[in-house]
Amino acid sequence: MVAKRKIAVFASGYGSNFEAIARAAQSGEIPAEVVLLVCDKKSARACDIANELGIESFIFTAKEYNSKQEYESAIVEQCKARGVEMICLAGYMRIVGKVLLERYAERIINIHPSLLPSFKGAHAIQDAVDYGVKIFGATTHFVDETLDGGRIIDQGAIVYEGNDIEELTNLIHKIEHNLYVKTINKLINKKF
Ligand code: GRF
Repeated sequence: MVAKRKIAVFASGYGSNFEAIARAAQSGEIPAEVVLLVCDKKSARACDIANELGIESFIFTAKEYNSKQEYESAIVEQCKARGVEMICLAGYMRIVGKVLLERYAERIINIHPSLLPSFKGAHAIQDAVDYGVKIFGATTHFVDETLDGGRIIDQGAIVYEGNDIEELTNLIHKIEHNLYVKTINKLINKKF
């Protein structure tokens, strides 16, 4: 049996990916324990999910720190205190900086709602629709200091020719939840 790996999830908003990862860990679907939610918005639904699931959270306000370096050092302390081995970004709306990248080199991953390297940024689904795309999807990738950059780990795709952005977004989110769990499993078992 593989020992459970300690994961921190970073989120800024709704937290459906955080919830999917946390539930998969709690049900034993992935050999991991989500020991920390890091969130930069105290009103985020992700914080409520953490409470509901009994997961500790570190909620910070970036502007209360002098620099990214300073708040990332605070995050690293929180992670170290709980023995975090892997960080999963799930709708964390900040570019990760040197402090985290150096401490968790090759151990920070992200999910993005497009088939990268197309449609980076915060409006990926709308941008893809506007471009006339018919094959949509999601990508998990290693994180580097660039926006939605870093080596791709997994992708999932669907053909969608409708025009209901809400329906499409829900379909992509479903792909994301399964994909993230699959990627974490892969990473833990080093099959990548
Ligand atoms: C997801 O679409 C993810 O790919 C992107 O931000 C969104 C977060 O959604 N990075 P949620 O907060 O997990 O519901």
